[in-house]
Amino acid sequence: MSDRAENNSMSAQVAPLRVQRAPAPLRGDVVVPGDKSISHRALMLAAMAQGRSEISGLLEGEDVLRTASAMRALGAEIRQDGARWVVYGHGAQGLREPDDVLDMGNSGTAARLMAGILSTQPFNSFMTGDASLRARPMKRVTDPLQKNGACFVTRQGGRLPMVVVGTAQGTPIHYRLPVASAQVKSAILLAGLNAQGETLVDEPTPTRDHTENMLRYFGVDVAVNETDSGGRLIRLTGPAHLNAQNVIVPGDPSSAAFPIVAALLIPGSDLIIRNVGLNPLRTGLLTSLQEMGAQITIEDIRREGGERVGDLRVKASTLRAVDVPEKRAPSMIDEYPILSVACAFAEGTSRLRGLGELRVKESDRLNATLALLKANHVTARIDGDDLVIEGRPDGDGLGGGRVETLMDHRLAMSAIIFGLAASNPIDVDDTGFINTSFPGFIDLMNKMGAGL
Ligand code: S3P
Repeated sequence: MSDRAENNSMSAQVAPLRVQRAPAPLRGDVVVPGDKSISHRALMLAAMAQGRSEISGLLEGEDVLRTASAMRALGAEIRQDGARWVVYGHGAQGLREPDDVLDMGNSGTAARLMAGILSTQPFNSFMTGDASLRARPMKRVTDPLQKNGACFVTRQGGRLPMVVVGTAQGTPIHYRLPVASAQVKSAILLAGLNAQGETLVDEPTPTRDHTENMLRYFGVDVAVNETDSGGRLIRLTGPAHLNAQNVIVPGDPSSAAFPIVAALLIPGSDLIIRNVGLNPLRTGLLTSLQEMGAQITIEDIRREGGERVGDLRVKASTLRAVDVPEKRAPSMIDEYPILSVACAFAEGTSRLRGLGELRVKESDRLNATLALLKANHVTARIDGDDLVIEGRPDGDGLGGGRVETLMDHRLAMSAIIFGLAASNPIDVDDTGFINTSFPGFIDLMNKMGAGL
């Protein structure tokens, strides 16, 4: 049995889908589920705070539910109360040894941030994940976290399952990030909450700053300084105390990306998506689509729960090719598969630069995106770390292929949007993993008229 089949037989059934061209324009006034990155952090910090926190808008996707289970196993009380989640924490120094293996499912964010938390605890923990997560590199977090005195025993290549031998007297870490990764930055900052002294992360290229924002919101003194070369130095001093807070989670821009691109590609569409997170370190896709000529307007920009949010209006548009610079990658790292779909229907040849990090996502997203395109008659190639895509604006002759989604929710959703815009139906091998980040995706698309 393949890893995927085995994994699926233990959790959801494999759910294949045939996707036909959308029968009508997409219309509607919708919201997308809560931001995945912010949801993980809200649960983790509330569970490490002293007292009762309430979270509204939490993403109830499988990835985030794994974080909830893990924080419960560490001693926090977490329960759902209607649309809100209530968390009682016992403080950053009040976690207890989990009595079983922590299973982080499909979620790299949950696993890597949790490694940081566990590294400065006075007990040992065991962590695993599904076949996709067990294939992903953990060395990027275990290497720096070892500097605080913790010890990690992993499988070959630094893969899960792993044992975390925590340290009660953690030395604070000073670390310059060798890859632009918010997960690595966050793991080190979270470890710093229980280290003795100042933790420092030097980030040459800024990545999403939800951990910094939310730590501040929970009362931790986090200093952020811009460097002359455009990077950031982030400092916090441990041991830190977190005060319980109420958190409002905005809609996930990485989830909004799918209906946005669908509305751009399906002729006559006109869609409003409300309450979308617009943190400037997450808006690279909107910038790139606007450069392609997308009609996207942002209305009613406001701040909620320490994050910038707004409402998006998206109208079907004639798109032209784009050249996306490497330095934009961290602000849209999860959006390349769906941007590639937009490029396949744009006039001209697009180049998406510097996508090496995509090779270590839920799947090798660089090669899997290329395979998605090529199986459906798009001319595309990988050139070093760049993806080059020749667009065909009318979508005629595109489609007709089968897409392997490799346990990767974003590939599955990208394939579905491709199928809605292409002239020939496509087959998606498995849509089950969409629930990791976007529960209700197919229903929401149908509510807008996708006819899936
Ligand atoms: C995330 C950071 C990104 C992103 C992931 C969520 C986070 O990963 O791809 O989906 O919440 O910190 P990297 O840190 O590996 O770039």
